[in-house]
Amino acid sequence: NIEKDENVIWHQHAVDKTFRAEQKQQRPALLWFTGLSGSGKSTVAGALEHELARLGYHTYLLDGDNVRHGLCRDLGFSDHDRRENIRRVGEVAKLMTDAGLIVLSAFISPFREERQLVRDLLPEGEFLEVYVDTPLEVCEARDPKGLYKKARAGEIKAFTGISSAYEAPENPEIHLKTDEGSVGDQVNRCLAQLRRAGVIR
Ligand code: PPS
Repeated sequence: NIEKDENVIWHQHAVDKTFRAEQKQQRPALLWFTGLSGSGKSTVAGALEHELARLGYHTYLLDGDNVRHGLCRDLGFSDHDRRENIRRVGEVAKLMTDAGLIVLSAFISPFREERQLVRDLLPEGEFLEVYVDTPLEVCEARDPKGLYKKARAGEIKAFTGISSAYEAPENPEIHLKTDEGSVGDQVNRCLAQLRRAGVIR
C-alpha cells in the first residue's frame, strides 16, 4: 500500500534500545527454542528464565500455547498459519529486545525459513537458536497432552513429526539433547553458552 509507506514515519525516541538495556545493565538477546511437541522447550526455557531472573536479569518468556490464546488466537496449524504465528512472535520478540529484555521463546517453529526471518530481524549475535533435540520416539512416548495418540489415530491433521514437517536446525548456537541429562543440566549448558557468547556475565 503506497499511501501507507509514504505517510507512516518511523519515530526515533529519546529513550532508545541502548538506554533501556543500560538501565537494566544487560545485553538484550532472543533465545529461540525450537523442537518437536513434547521435546521439552517450555520446560527448559521456563527453568532457564527462572535462573536468569534469579541472577538479576530482566527476562520475558513467550510460549506457544499461551500466545495461541491471545495474539495468535486466529491461527491454526496449516503451514501458512504456522509461518504467520512465527512472524508475529518474531516481531513481538524484537520489540521486547528493543525494551532491553532477554527474551526466551518456545515455539515448535518447524520451518528453517521462518526461523531465519526472525534471526534477520535482529542485529548480528542477538538471536541464539536453541535446538531442543529430543527424538520423535521419546516425545511420542511422553505424550504429555495425548496429542501424538490423537495424531496417530488421524484425529489431528498436520501434526508436527507425524503428518507435518519439522526441519531441524543445521547450525544452532545451542544444541540440547534432552534425553541426556536433567533439566538442570540443560539449563547449565545454556548458561555456559550464554556466557561464552557474552550475553550474560
Ligand atoms: S508452531 O508450529 O510453531 O506454529 O506451533 P506452536 O505455536 O509452538 O504450538 C505448538 C503447540 O500446539 C499444540 N498443537 C500442535 N502442535 C503441532 N501440530 C499440531 N497440529 C498441533 N495442534 C495442537 C501442541 O500442544 C504444541 O505444544 P508443545 O508445547 O510444542 O508441545
